[in-house]
Amino acid sequence: MDSPVLVACTLAVLASPAVVSAQYELVGAVDAVQPDARGAAVQCDPGVTLRLQFLAPDLVRVTLERPDIREPLLDYPIVDQDWPDVDVQVQQTGDVIRLASDEMRVEVARESCAVRMSDTAGTTLFRNDPEMAIGWDGNEVRTWNVIHDDDRFYGLGEKTGALNKRGEEWVMWNSDTYAYVADRDPIYQSVPFFVGVRGSVAYGLYFNNSARSTFNFGAGQHRYWSFAAEQGPLDYFVMLGPDVPDVVDRYTELTGRPLMPPLWSLGYQQSRWSYYPDDEVLRIARTFREKRIPADVLYLDIHYMDEYRVFSWHPERFPQPVALLDSLEAMGFKVVTIIDPGVKVDTTSGYRVARELLDGRHYVRYPDGSPMIGSVWPGPSYFPDYSRPETQRWWGEWLGRLRAEGIDGIWNDMNEPAVWGKAFPLEALMYDNGRESSQKRMHNLYGYLMAQTAYDALRRVRPDERPFNLTRAGFAGEQRFTAVWTGDNVASWEHLRLGVRILLGLGLSGVPFIGTDVGGFVGSPSPELFARWVQVGVFSPLFRAHTTANTLDQEPWSFGEYVEDVARSAIELRYRLLPYMYSLFHEAHRTGAPIMRPMFWHFQEDSASFAVENSEQFMLGESLLVAPVVEEGGRFRSLWLPRGRWADLATGTVYEGGRRITVDAPLERIPMFLREGGILPLGPVAQHTGVLERGPLTLEVLPASDSAGSERGLRLFEDDGISYDFEDGDYRLTRFVTERQPDGSVRVIRTVDHDGHDIGERMLVINVHGIGTSPRSVQLNGRELEANAGATRDGWSWDVARMVVTVRLAEAGARQEIVIR
Ligand code: GLC
Repeated sequence: MDSPVLVACTLAVLASPAVVSAQYELVGAVDAVQPDARGAAVQCDPGVTLRLQFLAPDLVRVTLERPDIREPLLDYPIVDQDWPDVDVQVQQTGDVIRLASDEMRVEVARESCAVRMSDTAGTTLFRNDPEMAIGWDGNEVRTWNVIHDDDRFYGLGEKTGALNKRGEEWVMWNSDTYAYVADRDPIYQSVPFFVGVRGSVAYGLYFNNSARSTFNFGAGQHRYWSFAAEQGPLDYFVMLGPDVPDVVDRYTELTGRPLMPPLWSLGYQQSRWSYYPDDEVLRIARTFREKRIPADVLYLDIHYMDEYRVFSWHPERFPQPVALLDSLEAMGFKVVTIIDPGVKVDTTSGYRVARELLDGRHYVRYPDGSPMIGSVWPGPSYFPDYSRPETQRWWGEWLGRLRAEGIDGIWNDMNEPAVWGKAFPLEALMYDNGRESSQKRMHNLYGYLMAQTAYDALRRVRPDERPFNLTRAGFAGEQRFTAVWTGDNVASWEHLRLGVRILLGLGLSGVPFIGTDVGGFVGSPSPELFARWVQVGVFSPLFRAHTTANTLDQEPWSFGEYVEDVARSAIELRYRLLPYMYSLFHEAHRTGAPIMRPMFWHFQEDSASFAVENSEQFMLGESLLVAPVVEEGGRFRSLWLPRGRWADLATGTVYEGGRRITVDAPLERIPMFLREGGILPLGPVAQHTGVLERGPLTLEVLPASDSAGSERGLRLFEDDGISYDFEDGDYRLTRFVTERQPDGSVRVIRTVDHDGHDIGERMLVINVHGIGTSPRSVQLNGRELEANAGATRDGWSWDVARMVVTVRLAEAGARQEIVIR
C-alpha cells in the first residue's frame, strides 16, 4: 500500500503547474501596478510580477518574478554601484502602463503584459510578441519579440558565423571545441549581451543569467527573435544608444570597465605547445634578438610541468626555473605560464597541491559531497571550486609562488571546464556564496571565476603592477580582469577571416583585450597564410602566435627569408603603433570602446558599413581603417571607404570616400587608411617595450575639410605602463587636433590636457597629408619655421612625390600651434 506521505507528495507535485506542465505557460493580463521610485512592479496573470526599473535614463532592468522559482538573481557580472536617481513618469491608461524617463519609454500592454521599449521619439527598439510575450515551462523561461525586417544583431561575445547574428540560434554554454568549424556554436565563452540595430537606432540587451541560454534571432521561423534560459530568472537589462558606442559604454558601466593592461602585454607574444626544455626556450628568445624581430613575451605550455601537475616544474626539462626566468628577463622577455584547473589525483607522491585541495575541501563536488573527478591532461583530476573564497585564496597563494619565481602572467586554459571535450557533470556543486549551486548555474561562470581568482592573486602579490591574465572560457564582465583568446582555431584562410569577425563581435560585447592564435593553432599555415595572419595580428589587441603540438615551427623566421622580412616589418609596425594602441586601451578602460571596431561603430549611418562583404575590414580606433588581405593569393584588396577623405598610408594617395576602391596589396603590404581629421601617432621601433623610447613621435595627419572632422584628432595617453598610479593622476594626456581654415591654411594644435607624468623631451615629426602644393610658410606659435632645417632642429620640408609636408619640432609647453599656409 502507498504510504500517506508518498501520496501527499505526489498530489503536491501534480498540483504545481510549473512542475508538470508539458508546454509553455504564457503570461497573461495585468492585474495590478505598483509604481516605485525607479519604475513599477506590474503583476500579471498567473500571479507573476514583472519588475521594471530604470537604473539610468537610458538603462532599464526587467525582471520576471515567479512564485515557484526561488533562484537568486545573478550578481557576479554586475558591478556594485549606486545608480543616481532617475526621474521616471508612470502613466496608466486603459490599454497600457507607460514608464518614461527623459530618454526611454517602456510600455506594458494591459491585455497581455507584453513589453515594448522605445526611444522618446517613439522608435521601437523591440516589443514582445503581443500574443506570446513571456512564457515558462518548468524551470525554463523565454520571451519572444516581434522581428522586423530591419533588425540586426551583433555581439553575443565569442561567436562564429557572420558578424550579424540574425537568422541563427546561438547557445550560451562554454565548450571545449578543438578545431572548431567556422559555424560551430557554442565555443568557449558566453557573453549573453548583444547590440541590436534598427534603422538609425542602436540598443543593447544583456540577459543576466548564467544557465544554458539561447538567442534565436529568427532561426527556423520568421515571426520572432527570442531568448530563453533553461533555468533561473528572466532578468535582463536594456540600454538605448542611439549610437552603438553609447550602448557599449552603458553595458561596461553595468558589467565593469575593461582593465588597463601592462604595456608589455601589448608587445608581440610568441607561444607554442610547447617550448621545452629550458635551452629551447632560450634559443627562441635569442633568435628573436639576433634576428631583430621585436617580441616581449614567451609562453610556457603544459610541458613545463611534471606530468601535467599544476604548480610543478618538470625536473629534467626545467631543473632551474628561476635561473631560466632570470636569463629571459635579462633579455627583455616576460614569461607567461599555462595553468589548467585540473589537479592531478595524486596523494601518494607527495604532491602538495592535491593534498591541500582535499584537506581544504577546495574541490567541485557531487551532491553527496565527494570530489568530482574528471580526466584532462594530468589524467584523473579534481576541479577547484573558484567560487569559494578559501579556494580563491589557496589557489592564489600557489599563483603567488609562481609569480615570486619570476612568472609574469597567467594563461588560464581548459576552464570551460574541459573534460576532454565531454560533458562536465551537471549535478556537480560549487559554493556560489553559500547557495551550493550545480553546474546548471555555475558551468558558464567557471572560467570567469578562475580568471578572476588569478587576477586578484596577481594583484595581491604585486599591488603596484597591473596583472596580465589570459583566459579561454569566460562570461559577461570578464573584461574587468582578463584578456581572451579564441581557443583552438585552425591554420586556414577561412579561420583567418573568421578570426577577424570573432574579434569584432567580442569587442562589441565589452571585451576589448582579445586575439586569435596567429598562424592558426591546428595544422601548419603556408608561408603566405602566416604572413597575412601576422598582418592581422598587428591590429589585434592581443598579438600572440601559437600552435599545437607536433606541428611545424611557427616562429616569424620559420617560413623563409621573405616571410621573415614581412613578419618583421609587420611586428615593427605593431611596436610603432603602441602609442596609439595604448591610448585606445585607455579609452577602452574609460568607456568600454573596442580597440578593433566594426565599420559601423563609426559609420552607423552608412549602410555599406554593415555589409557582409565589408565585415573583414575594420577601424583601429577612430582614425585608422585597416583592410587586411585575408584571401589566398590576394594581391589586390577591394574595400569600402565610408564618406570623407582618406589617405592611403602606403602611397600617400588621398581618396574621396563613399565608394569602393581597390588597392595594390602585395604580400608585404597591409592596406591602411588615415581618416580625415584623424591623427595617427607612430613611435619608434624597439626590440621590446622595456627599451621603448617615447620619441621621436611621428604624427600622420589628414586635415578635415569639415568642422566635425576637426573634433577627432588624437588623445594620446602616456604613463609608466605598469602601475596603478595613473588612477591618482600620474599620467599625461595630450590632445592633438587638425583643422582646415576657410582661407585654406591648415592648423595642427597640440594641447596638454593633463600633465601628471614626466615623459622627458622628444621631437615630434608631423606628416601632413592632402595639402596639394608646397606651403609658402609654416609657423609654430606665430614664429616662422625654417624650411629644410635638418632632422634635429625645428623646421619643415615638402615631399613632392608623396605630397606630404613634414614639420619637425621639439615638444614644449602646454600648447603648440602649427599653421601651414
Ligand atoms: C588547449 C589550449 C591550447 C594549448 C593546449 C595544450 O588545447 O587551447 O592553447 O596549447 O591546450 O595546453
